[in-house]
Amino acid sequence: MTTIASPAEFTIQRPQYSRTSAIRWVLSHVLRHNWIIVMVFLGALGNAALAAVVPILVGDAFNAMLLPSPDTGVLVPLALIIGGTQVLRGVLQLGRNFGAELLGQRLEAEIRDELYISLLGKSMTFHSLQPVGDTMARATNDVREINLMFNPGINLVIGSFFFLVMPILAAPRYHPALLITPLLFALAYFASLARYLKTLAPISDEVRASFGSMNTHLSESLDGVETVKGAAQEDSEVERFILNAKRVRDAFVKQGDTEARFIAFLLYGIAIAAGLTHALFLFREGLLNTGQVIAYFGLLRMLDFPTFTSSWAYTQVSMGLAGARRILELINRETDLDQNASGYSGEMKGEVEFKDVTFAYPDGSAVLENISFKVKPGQTVAVVGQTGAGKTSLVKLLNRTYDISSGQVLVDGLDVREWNLASLRSQISMIEQDIFLFSRSISDNLAFGKPGAGQDEVESAARAAQAHDFIETFENGYETVIGERGVTLSGGQRQRLALGRAFLTDPRILILDDSTSAIDSATEDKIQRAISAAARGRTTFIITHRLSQIRWADLIIVLRKGQVAAMGSHDELMRTSDAYARIFRE
Ligand code: UTP
Ligand code: MG
Repeated sequence: MTTIASPAEFTIQRPQYSRTSAIRWVLSHVLRHNWIIVMVFLGALGNAALAAVVPILVGDAFNAMLLPSPDTGVLVPLALIIGGTQVLRGVLQLGRNFGAELLGQRLEAEIRDELYISLLGKSMTFHSLQPVGDTMARATNDVREINLMFNPGINLVIGSFFFLVMPILAAPRYHPALLITPLLFALAYFASLARYLKTLAPISDEVRASFGSMNTHLSESLDGVETVKGAAQEDSEVERFILNAKRVRDAFVKQGDTEARFIAFLLYGIAIAAGLTHALFLFREGLLNTGQVIAYFGLLRMLDFPTFTSSWAYTQVSMGLAGARRILELINRETDLDQNASGYSGEMKGEVEFKDVTFAYPDGSAVLENISFKVKPGQTVAVVGQTGAGKTSLVKLLNRTYDISSGQVLVDGLDVREWNLASLRSQISMIEQDIFLFSRSISDNLAFGKPGAGQDEVESAARAAQAHDFIETFENGYETVIGERGVTLSGGQRQRLALGRAFLTDPRILILDDSTSAIDSATEDKIQRAISAAARGRTTFIITHRLSQIRWADLIIVLRKGQVAAMGSHDELMRTSDAYARIFRE
């Protein structure tokens, strides 16, 4: 059997990434790609420097032309230099864009992996409280936002930053006072940017969150489409969806509104006007010549890149960070279940004991109270009771799908919390009330708990589970791919596939939650035989309404409203429990 390194029952702290804040977390991912960062920075720096070469050389050209006897000889070399630098600039720009794209894509993949591993490691408590649609939104769109944050987002932020710096570096070569305009522009730019990002952050969070809840609703109504249609609720579901979609739209509009209020364009206009006036003033004083004024003006024009990109590149960054916050929140959400890696992990015999067990779901009142019973290895226990009595809850305590509130659940005399969780679970198989099948082939579904099982093994398990015959009726036999959620199989067929799984994994304790399936008598008979075969040689818990199955159990537990109403063998209960005897009389 292959062992998967990471999935653990609680959130695993992986030391290579810092998870204290979204920014640090993203940074700790980014820093693993040093050379890409260097590439992006060098590309951006070179690009900006070579862009600054153009106005400077154009200024020189003007001066050459304005000489009393124009020196046309310099024009060709100047033109060649400009051409050459711009080609080089194109190459550097390509490097910058390529680096940013690579970084974005790599991070997207890495973060998606990290999230997926973390999700598989979460407890059932987590999964039953966290809507699938919202998780999907985070795993797809929010992760994508992080990618977009790098390209185009941060790519342009870095690119435009150097465009902001170049005029500051180059202007003093004409006159020190010319530093004032680009410097003041930069200061005002960053100040307004800081304010802008602060206003934008909650709006970006709202955009991402509203998208998440829209997705939740969408996935739930598609998942439950049968129910929706069955109750003729399409219209009201559509209305609810439109409402959700409107919230997403409103959040985006609000974001656009904030973007529009960003004053960078105004600052740019002021800077150009003020800088030109300043230069002309110096020109009149004889401190600058024409070519220098032109060069300076050209340098100021470089500020249009940061101005233009700022309105949306920073939005992208803000959205990326909002996405990162949402993903990190999900990864960091701790559950109190401890996987106890150093716990006992020996071979299980299958003895089970409940000692005065009380259990409540998180934020709920007790659904099981003072349950005590003991089962020897290999025995069969039937759990019966009305719907909502707590049957499913009871068996889920065995493999620690949930942890009990008080009392003790013992397997082989050892508290289940003292077992290594992975070992405990690998020796207990649970066939759930609604059997989940993956959209994979039948044989993959059968071999789910035992990847790499040979075709012979799979087939003999299927035979033992009485599933072989119906599988053979499919055109592709064992290779038939099952539709999503197993819709192409009947309840009875699914149940037999699940039993087949159990045969393959050969657990010491088998749990069969069979309470709601209504099946025709021919199938019933087959399932009956499959279950008897599966129960042989292992401790088995059967939750069922089928009297035939109850009758041959070694121990019958009758639950009522979370408490044991009666307990014993069939014969005992027929004698002592009116409630039990009544079931058989009906
Ligand atoms: P169970 O799910 O254990 O009942 O829920 P059951 O006996 O198996 O019922 P059927 O036959 O399958 O229908 C017992 C109680 O626990 C609550 C339910 O509301 C019910 O009252 N419960 C169940 C939760 O609060 N949270 C859950 O996740 C599941
Ligand atoms: Mg149940």
